[in-house]
Amino acid sequence: MTPIAADTDRRVWSLSTPNTTYAVHVTSDGRLVQLYWGARMSVDEVVLLAQQRTTAGGSSFHLPGDVEEQLPVEGGLRWGVPSLQVTFPGGVRSAELEFAGDSIEADGDGHRLELVFTDSHFPLRVVLHYRVREDSDVVERWVTLKHVGDENEEPFAVGRADAGSWLIPERADYRYSAVSGAWAAENQLGRERVPLGEFTLCNRRGNTGHHANPWVMLDDGTATEEHGEVWGVALAWSGTWRITAQRRFEGRLAVTAGFGHDGVTWQLRPGEELTTPPLLGVYTEGGFGAASRAWHRHARAHVLPRPEEVRPVLYNSWEAVWFDVDEESQLEIARKAADLGVELFVMDDGWFGKRVNDHAGLGDWWPNPDRFPNGLGPLADGVRKLGMAFGLWVEPEMVNPDSDLYRTHPDWTIHFPHRRRDELRQQLVLNFGRDDVRTWAHGWLDRLVADHGIDFLKWDMNRSISQGGWPERAGDQDRLWIEHTRGVYEVIDRLRAAHPGLRIESCSGGGGRVDYGILARTDEVWTSDNTDAFHRQSIQHGYSQLYPAAAMAAWVTDSPNPITGRAVPLEYRFHVAMAGVLGIGGNLHEWTDRELEQARELIGVYKTIREVVQHGDQYRLGSEPGQGLSAVEYVHGDNVAVLVYHPHAGVHPAPGHLRLAGLDPDARYEVASDGMAEAGGCTATGRVLMAVGLPVPRRVAGGDWSSAVVRLRRIR
Ligand code: GLA
Repeated sequence: MTPIAADTDRRVWSLSTPNTTYAVHVTSDGRLVQLYWGARMSVDEVVLLAQQRTTAGGSSFHLPGDVEEQLPVEGGLRWGVPSLQVTFPGGVRSAELEFAGDSIEADGDGHRLELVFTDSHFPLRVVLHYRVREDSDVVERWVTLKHVGDENEEPFAVGRADAGSWLIPERADYRYSAVSGAWAAENQLGRERVPLGEFTLCNRRGNTGHHANPWVMLDDGTATEEHGEVWGVALAWSGTWRITAQRRFEGRLAVTAGFGHDGVTWQLRPGEELTTPPLLGVYTEGGFGAASRAWHRHARAHVLPRPEEVRPVLYNSWEAVWFDVDEESQLEIARKAADLGVELFVMDDGWFGKRVNDHAGLGDWWPNPDRFPNGLGPLADGVRKLGMAFGLWVEPEMVNPDSDLYRTHPDWTIHFPHRRRDELRQQLVLNFGRDDVRTWAHGWLDRLVADHGIDFLKWDMNRSISQGGWPERAGDQDRLWIEHTRGVYEVIDRLRAAHPGLRIESCSGGGGRVDYGILARTDEVWTSDNTDAFHRQSIQHGYSQLYPAAAMAAWVTDSPNPITGRAVPLEYRFHVAMAGVLGIGGNLHEWTDRELEQARELIGVYKTIREVVQHGDQYRLGSEPGQGLSAVEYVHGDNVAVLVYHPHAGVHPAPGHLRLAGLDPDARYEVASDGMAEAGGCTATGRVLMAVGLPVPRRVAGGDWSSAVVRLRRIR
């Protein structure tokens, strides 16, 4: 059965995912509304829903229903938050969209529905696209706008083009979950009651943002980690964005989301098409945990470029030596890293141009001759001889004014004429909307990767975009905000196409560029510049709400931590970093022999569980991370890995058992443990492990900073 069914007479379309149904309908007054979003429902039931719709009567001030629309325009009898705002020639607003047809087709990655609308007077064509897949509960939506007039017509000014609005069905109350944060404090999860009125999450900085991330989840206030209905919406875009939830006194809640921020206008010229980034929606009845697992599965099956791979253990030199890199000292540390079992060695900032600190050199992407007199070849070869792959840090979108590039091409930066070019970290942003800038960036990156057989790039972006001008596009400069991000995507896509073995990490001062747009073209993200294992627990907890462990880089660094000053034992640091893609970022010259020995062992342990961590289904167990006894469990086929944390002994004893989740109740599991020795060697059924739990040994429930890795295997 095709996952998309249409009743064209009644103008009803029903989209099915394995566990959910999403249905839309063009009403008798021509509005495209959401009929249903929830647990699976038959097409007949959906059609009945359309027939039973009642139009609310009452006062002329009564709810006109734009909260239920799929793409409410600014205009007509609508006073809510518009998803689409267009100003036509002569200053005419109030678009009037009329249904013009549908099409359904299989497109290689699922099935697609397109609903076409045209303006009643002006040559504007609007298409709403929907995609569902047979193995994912994500419904994907996006919109294309096309000026279909002839070339002499005036452009249309598009002030807002969201990828769509989602109606959260009528419930007694509404609560939202979202992350906020800052540099070195990303992904702090919060849950609050949705206020009446309009509530906006947004980012105006030009990356995805440390302060917010483009997703929101809604429930009626009663959902828990394991139970209850949750609706989630996430935008796949790495530039500026806005998500607005609108809760009406009359009831119901709508969420509209898309790229761009307030005041940005796109001039849609004759013949031109504007395509929004995809907006993804998930519904589950299984609480926040099930929602996260639906997102993770979708990311692994349909977003990440190489989800089948197991990510290597990485070493990165940043926190160890900061800008102080050269051939000999990097090789020296590489030897130590290789000896621990590291598989990928990445040299961070400081290897190019006059880059000995953050005052100069960005833009001059050739090896610093004082530090690398023979180029990067000897280091790259040396690293490979040690049995590791070789990676490099780059920040292609940036330029220091103190660089040859800026002296030659000051016009390449984002700026307005007659306005200051404010610097942050002594740097400005190159305009990746410009063809010449993209050609230049692709040229040097392509040569760098080809000449040195680079296996891995850490692609950084260390400042926000400000003074967003594009003087050559006077009158239409706002397109910078979209074309810069598209330009970054294009350069990465070309690079990957030309170098299929190349892997890329997305970084923006830590986790400032994490979203489903960048994850479609990078393999992992640098989660945060904060590597304090204690802080990392909450950062990783927030990250895991949407994004999978396979894309979450986590390093073990020095203690006390260079940013927070907190001392944490090596084992605890490792166990926290094992919850994602393990890396090492400490100064190995300062680690004692005992620490190096322990690190070697722990890297070995990680290698036995990493496939389960990176490819498995994730369950968050126990208390809030960092508050008491908490754990992260991963289930992959017959194998289960559980990372258990108990940072501080409280006055109340820790629970005696840790209840697992996601197991086969009737199967027996053999428990092998590193650390939870009392549990090791025993077998138990999945039912017992979920109902009663794993016994938590005294060693873990006792003092401060205790942690453990538990491995279980289903015995057939
Ligand atoms: C950013 C990154 C760090 C490091 C520095 C280098 O802050 O997040 O990991 O690469 O840049 O300048």
